Amino acid sequence: MTRSGKVLYIIVCAAGAAVDVGRLVAYAQGEGWIVQIIATPSALDFIDVPELEQQTGRPVRSQYRKPHEPRPPRADAIIVAPATYNTINKFAQGIADTYALGLLAEAPGLGIPVVVLPFVNSAFASRAPFRQSVASLRAEGIPVLLGPGQFEPHPSGAGGDKLDTYPWALALKEIGQHRLR
Ligand SMILES: Cc1cc2nc3c(=O)[nH]c(=O)nc-3n(C[C@H](O)[C@H](O)[C@H](O)COP(=O)(O)O)c2cc1C
Repeated sequence: MTRSGKVLYIIVCAAGAAVDVGRLVAYAQGEGWIVQIIATPSALDFIDVPELEQQTGRPVRSQYRKPHEPRPPRADAIIVAPATYNTINKFAQGIADTYALGLLAEAPGLGIPVVVLPFVNSAFASRAPFRQSVASLRAEGIPVLLGPGQFEPHPSGAGGDKLDTYPWALALKEIGQHRLR
């Protein structure tokens, strides 16, 4: 399905897979999405900002605009990938202390579909707070692509081995199931 003219926000967090987020950008553009990259402040160290700005034709945003600056185009859909332990837990708790989390805090209430694709090791994934966060987001109708056939956590320190098989396209497929405004 083509999403011609629709705006996809890709929220990128500070996890190993962030280095490859350009792959998701390319897949999304191939489906007709206009892509806006939103980075958490920590993710800025993991991504090549100029390269992504060239690829998307839009500035990478990691902070709120100043009150006098124009509003960026509103998102029609949001993918959080790679989603960290930190951002998943904060999103589930309703914390909005970064621009990325502020967008996520509002999106469900605005009817904007959000899909979360984690990148966490098995130590993070085993923690009760994390499992509760995943359950809580799913209960709100927010898909978290964690589990068999989706993202499967790796042993601590082995994230580099997962980069080639990180299921970017699955997040795009999942967001494609939503009827957009
Ligand atoms: C080299 C490096 C790799 C990291 N990889 C991950 C990771 O794969 N998953 C994760 O949840 N956190 C990872 N972290 C920890 C996060 O970067 C850290 O929790 C950070 O506060 C997340 O911020 P954010 O959620 O705002 O992006 C990593 C940190 C470093 C320095």
